[in-house]
This record gives sequence, structure tokens and C-alpha cells, in this order.
Amino acid sequence: MSTFKEGLQDVVAATSSICFIDGDQGVLSYRGIDIHDLAEKSSFEEVCYLLWFGKLPQRKELDHLTEELARNRAVPEEVFHLMRRFPKDANPMDVLRTAVSALGLYDPDRQTGSAEANLRKTYRLTGQVATITAAIDRIRSGKDPLSPDTSLKHAANFVYMLTGKKPTPTAEKAFDVALILHADHEFNASTFAGRVTAGTLSDMHSAVTSAIGTLKGPLHGGANIDVMRMLLEIGEVNKVETYLENALASKKKISGFGHRVYNTEDPRATHLRKMSHDLCQSSGNGKWFEMSRMIEEIMKREKNINANVDFYSATVYYNLGVAVDLFTPIFAVSRISGWTAHILEQLENNRLIRPRAEYLGPQYPARYIPLSER
Ligand code: COA
Repeated sequence: MSTFKEGLQDVVAATSSICFIDGDQGVLSYRGIDIHDLAEKSSFEEVCYLLWFGKLPQRKELDHLTEELARNRAVPEEVFHLMRRFPKDANPMDVLRTAVSALGLYDPDRQTGSAEANLRKTYRLTGQVATITAAIDRIRSGKDPLSPDTSLKHAANFVYMLTGKKPTPTAEKAFDVALILHADHEFNASTFAGRVTAGTLSDMHSAVTSAIGTLKGPLHGGANIDVMRMLLEIGEVNKVETYLENALASKKKISGFGHRVYNTEDPRATHLRKMSHDLCQSSGNGKWFEMSRMIEEIMKREKNINANVDFYSATVYYNLGVAVDLFTPIFAVSRISGWTAHILEQLENNRLIRPRAEYLGPQYPARYIPLSER
């Protein structure tokens, strides 16, 4: 058996043609196209096409996909009914996970796992994860979910369903770029979980449910919530230094820092830092950006650790008026595109994913002691 690597660090678990990362050079690309180009020039719909079909779309192909995504946003009333019965203080990621699992029961293609059906499920899930995320916030505050607006693109429609208002061009652009930046990241933990589930030839809803449960954790997507909670707890610029000193002295992990793959700056953080700066300035909340910059400098100075995608996404969403506990579901609103791309890729050339463990238990053969003698 090959050597054990804790946390599967640097282990190549499969081949993939979706996402290329160079952790030493700080490069991230989808299908070979640099994330900086995509963030500046593309749209979430275009990135979905790129991830699912392996190339940039022609105008007609993009229009077709944009329409498909827009007309696949509806969530069955049965799922909203279920959501209305959940505790009002439920963790939104638990609600999202359970609602997506329930979607599988009502999906028109639930009896089939054909390639065509899985593509239809991909469109539906991408639309529905956004609808459910917006509905979580409305239902828990006693409001009805809003019907999607098919005239709006994905990012704008999401903001509309969440807030009841069409976003300003600045807010729409910020959400769209955030969706592009979070869309895929190779074999991150949630994508890997989704591929493991798909690899058993279970169904797409089960695979996405596995992925959502995995994204929830604070070492993964849950970190963006913890970043904002930390900033709120610190509260003021002049308290940053002492807070960080104490946290690092007690060996606390600072959320939003460190990465398994990047040894340089996470290229997504480069964009999110700029977005956070602009949004904090324009909303008059400059102190959150100032505090973030201080934390970043201290982490670099004391630990030589860089900010990751979750650090500045926290203040971006906060400035856009999103409830803090919705930050991770919003990550899922984007990452559903990457999860489904990887599930489709896994199924194209499937082999069960089943690694081995290095056994450290009692030596074999251990004697079976009958119950009466124990
Ligand atoms: N704050 C303080 N120290 C950190 C740190 C952080 N956020 N991230 C890593 N380190 C330190 C560890 O303490 C460890 O130091 P040591 O060798 O002196 O013990 C070293 O860096 C390696 O960290 P480790 O946790 O072993 O790396 P990993 O590859 O297993 O974990 C993360 C990667 C992302 C889970 C980890 O960096 C982390 O917990 N970050 C905070 C959560 C987060 O932001 N997650 C989102 C990731 S996109």
C-alpha cells in the first residue's frame, strides 16, 4: 500500500479537466482560463457553461443557457412547506442541506440518472439552490418566498428574491463576481465529498447533499461566517492588535487565513479585497475594511499566512446587507456549479472511490472475549 498522507495532503485522487491550480504561483483557472480574466470579463452564466461544457459559449449558447437557468429556478411548494416547519433558529446550512435532499423526492427526473437527466438536474439545482437560500431568510422572518424573476440574470434574481428589491448595478456586479470567484476549486473537501457519493452511482441530489454538509464546516465554507463574527466581536480598529495577539498566543486558528493548496495569496482574495474596500467605502463602513487589512498584516507578519477566499468575502456580503449566517449558503449558490460539473465528470468515466486506511487498532488477531467473561 502507498504511504499514508494526513488529510490526503497533496494526494492526487483522480484526473480532472475542470480546474487548474498552481499553489506556488497563486494561479487558479477554470478550464485553463485565468480566474482574473473570468472575474473581470465574464458572467456567472458564462462560467457555468465553461464548467459544464468545457469551453466558452457562443452568443447563442450563452443565451440558451441563461434562459434554461432562469426557467429552472422554481422550487416545489412541498419543499417550502417543509421549510416552514423547521425551527426558526435553524442553521441555514442545515436547512439548505435538508431542502436540497427533499428536492430529490420531487425532481421530474428522479427515476433516472441518464446523462441527459443529470444535465437537466444540473440546471434545476443551480436555479433552486439560489431560490432556497433566499427563501430561508424570508421564511424564518415570517415572509413568503418570492417567485423568481425570469427577466433577471442569476445574480440579480438572487438579490431580488432575498431582499424583494432589484439590486443596483454595483450590487449586481459584486454578487456576480463573487459567484464567479467561488464557482469551483478543484478537489476541495465538498467537491470531493460530492464526487465520492456520485462515484457509488447514487443520484445527483444525494451527491449535492453530501457536498452541502461538507461545505458547512468552519474549516471549509463555514469560515466566512466566523470571519464576520470575529470582526463584530473585535468591534473597533484599536482593538485588533490585542485581539490577534491573544488569539495567536492561545494557538487559535484565525478564520479566513491559511490554505491547504496556496503557498501565496489566494487569487480570489485579491479580487475580494478590492471589492470589500470599494463596498466598505461606499456604504460608509470603512472600519470593517481597515480592521481586515490590519488583521491581514498581523497574520503575514506573525505567521506568514495569507488571507483565503473567505476572509474578504465576509465583509463583501456584510456590506451588501446579507445576514451573517447566510454567507455559507451563498457560497453554495455559487459552488453548486462546480459540484455539478465534477459530478458529471465523475460519472463520465466512473470508478468507485474507495481508499484504504492505515490500521492502528489492536493487533490482529485479538481474542474475542465472551460477554460473560468481560
Ligand atoms: N490561523 C492561525 N494559524 C494557522 C491558520 C490560521 N487560520 N491556518 C494555518 N495555521 C497554522 C497552523 O497552526 C499550523 O501551524 P503549526 O505547524 O505551527 O502547527 C500551520 O499553519 C499549518 O496549518 P494546518 O491546519 O495543519 O493546515 P491545513 O492544510 O491542515 O489546514 C486550513 C488548512 C484552511 C483548514 C487552515 O489553514 C485553517 O484552519 N484555516 C482557518 C479556516 C479557514 O479559513 N478555512 C477556509 C479555507 S478556504
